[in-house]
Amino acid sequence: MSMNTSAVRDHFRVQVDHYPGLMGRIIPGYAEQRDLMVRLVPFESGRRIRILDLGCGPGLLAQQLLREFPQAELTALDLTNEMLDACRQRAGDESRMDYRLADFRTDDLGSGYDVITASLSLHHLTFAERPDFFARAYDSLNPGGVLIAAEVIIDESPDVRASQYRLWQEFMIANGEDGEQWFSKHTDKDHPATITSLISWLGVAGFVGAGCYWRQLNFAVLRAARR
Ligand SMILES: C[S@@+](CC[C@H](N)C(=O)[O-])C[C@H]1O[C@@H](n2cnc3c(N)ncnc32)[C@H](O)[C@@H]1O
Repeated sequence: MSMNTSAVRDHFRVQVDHYPGLMGRIIPGYAEQRDLMVRLVPFESGRRIRILDLGCGPGLLAQQLLREFPQAELTALDLTNEMLDACRQRAGDESRMDYRLADFRTDDLGSGYDVITASLSLHHLTFAERPDFFARAYDSLNPGGVLIAAEVIIDESPDVRASQYRLWQEFMIANGEDGEQWFSKHTDKDHPATITSLISWLGVAGFVGAGCYWRQLNFAVLRAARR
């Protein structure tokens, strides 16, 4: 296991109990991003689809997807047992859920999915890992399937980036969080890419129609489809 994986695991293991409230205080538009991700699923609500949620965390998105798609089967994948346990408690419905303790950087993603979701988890991939990851995600989708990701991103312009980071820290401070501490965690541990790079990697992996559907400061929601 690389240092990166073990550091990410330790970070999320300790956060699990207070995680949903915390995310709302440090991520602008956290609930809005999730609502949009559900709406970006291009299938009828009653269709029997297979969903893979990468880095499911405590299952807020999984719970919403299961509600909106009552015939769907969902595989929730995460690096930590603590997050998978929290997801199991929140999302429930064992008959439609499958829980996988796995590392999406290195482990097989499986196959036959109609939808892959990744909410605020892919920024843990380094730039070098992204092309291989997107190629594997493409292969694990059915034709016509989609990848929907809420991403931590970075602006091309250093000036825009600096003012976005200032506004992000002000957002966290206004919510009673230590904006500086969360910001330095982000700069130490995360690998945010520009929207242009993300769309380009997706295209190289074979995805079509890749686009950004929502953006606020350094956060964005993207969708791309398998041919
Ligand atoms: C910021 S949290 C987001 C959780 C959830 N998707 C949400 O939006 O609330 C990132 C999650 O991704 C998981 N994660 C990070 N790197 C991972 C990896 N390489 N493989 C599997 N899960 C990973 C973490 O354990 C954590 O639960």
